[in-house]
Amino acid sequence: MANVDYQNSFILILLVCLFSTFFFLFVYFFKKPNNVSDLPPSPPSFPIIGHLHLFFSTSLHKSFQNLASKYGPFLHLRVFSLPFVLVSSASITYKIFKDHDVNISSHGPVGLDDCLVFGSSGFITAPYGDYWKFMKKLMTISVLGHQAMQRSQGVRVVEVERFYRNLFDKAMKKESVEIGEEATGLVMSILGKMCMGRCFSEDNNEEKVSKINAEFAALTQKIFLARMLCTPLEKIGISPFKKEVMDASNRYEELLESIIVKYEEKVDENDGNEGMDILLAACRGENAECKITRKNLKALLAELFFGAGDTSSTTTRWAMAEIINNPMIFERLREEIDSVVGKTRLIQETDLPKLPYLEAVIKESLRLHPPGVLLPRQFEQGCKIRGFYIPKGTTLVINAYAVMRDPDAWKDPDEFKPERFLGQEEEKKENVLKFLPFGAGRRGCPGSNLSYIFIGTAIGVMEQCFD
Ligand code: HEM
Repeated sequence: MANVDYQNSFILILLVCLFSTFFFLFVYFFKKPNNVSDLPPSPPSFPIIGHLHLFFSTSLHKSFQNLASKYGPFLHLRVFSLPFVLVSSASITYKIFKDHDVNISSHGPVGLDDCLVFGSSGFITAPYGDYWKFMKKLMTISVLGHQAMQRSQGVRVVEVERFYRNLFDKAMKKESVEIGEEATGLVMSILGKMCMGRCFSEDNNEEKVSKINAEFAALTQKIFLARMLCTPLEKIGISPFKKEVMDASNRYEELLESIIVKYEEKVDENDGNEGMDILLAACRGENAECKITRKNLKALLAELFFGAGDTSSTTTRWAMAEIINNPMIFERLREEIDSVVGKTRLIQETDLPKLPYLEAVIKESLRLHPPGVLLPRQFEQGCKIRGFYIPKGTTLVINAYAVMRDPDAWKDPDEFKPERFLGQEEEKKENVLKFLPFGAGRRGCPGSNLSYIFIGTAIGVMEQCFD
């Protein structure tokens, strides 16, 4: 009898354990947010994984665009129990930035914590708060603000001339030119010197940083997926793409550490005004409202180099491809540049405000070929948008690629027509927010002015001097 009781208790305990496990799995994987009926519409999904399969397409932004044309521009997706909202239209993007900018002013979960670019020590992934505000101020004073930009203007003049001479030499030797590589070289030399002065170009650092940036650019979609999917996947012991990304990250960190050490060794040769001196002083805690670590400093540099380099060179390459394929645009651009700059000197950044057609060509290239196709943010608070409920903590993904080709917002959305940016129409607020290559709102790109300078002068030189 005692034996039977023992068996019964054993079976009972086993059943309780099994039931609890199933209950846990059910709650974890099938859990749906409250107010399900108020959520935006959702395309069909699989049990447990939800819409995970959608995230593994090779061109995620194009798959998301197709999804939107089938199911609508405002969708609710789920990966295991993690909720996403996917936005693909200009009108909803406008509504979100107009009414909820503060609520979405963080870029969301980090994913690969230790990674130098997009990791937890960085600026891009920092939540909107004191640390982010302090770093933004530091970045403005040291590199991107008006005074810092004036201080570094001479560096850009010299580097644009070097860019021209390099292309000219290759042309004389009848060597081929890879425009993306040349543009990356220009951006890296300028930005490196804006941050660290002449010392940056020793040891071929431009090339070394450009090479690692290119590796990171190739890993962007994987980093995006790791950021989006890490929370549910890590809970079941999977860390997607971690090894690959961390390998590139560790090499980036070593390279930056060696560049900083070299800079520190020669600190007496600098005039104390380089962006780097300001950043190092903050690192030592001198006059700083907020102390930053060496890793914070390297992460900021990596994000600046990565944020500026690949994006600006990709845009230059796309713009030149569009210009070369459209001889009328090529001619019109050359006429504009010749009439403002003349034929006796090279274009300079101070000419750019007088060259509206050049700016329109750059904008049209950014519209059709944005380097950042998906913009991730996070809803800090629950809110209502267009009558739908968005729960707190939901990840927002704005498909900038789809928004900038939205047929309800752009006439002939797939055609390259720079003229569309010459009219007054584009200045209206709702129209400004349909043009998203630099994101928008508080967390929009702080480097947009600098990138117009990089791209404008590079294209200007090629237009002026080469057929
Ligand atoms: C064509 C060139 C560029 C493109 C297309 C671009 C695009 C972007 C985009 C889409 C974002 C995210 C914005 C959002 O979430 O709303 C961003 C953020 C950022 N970009 Fe750029 N960028 C460019 C050049 C630059 C340059 C030249 C720099 C600096 C030297 C830079 C530094 C940054 C930084 C630091 C952030 C993070 C801002 C934050 O989290 O608050 N970018 N960029």
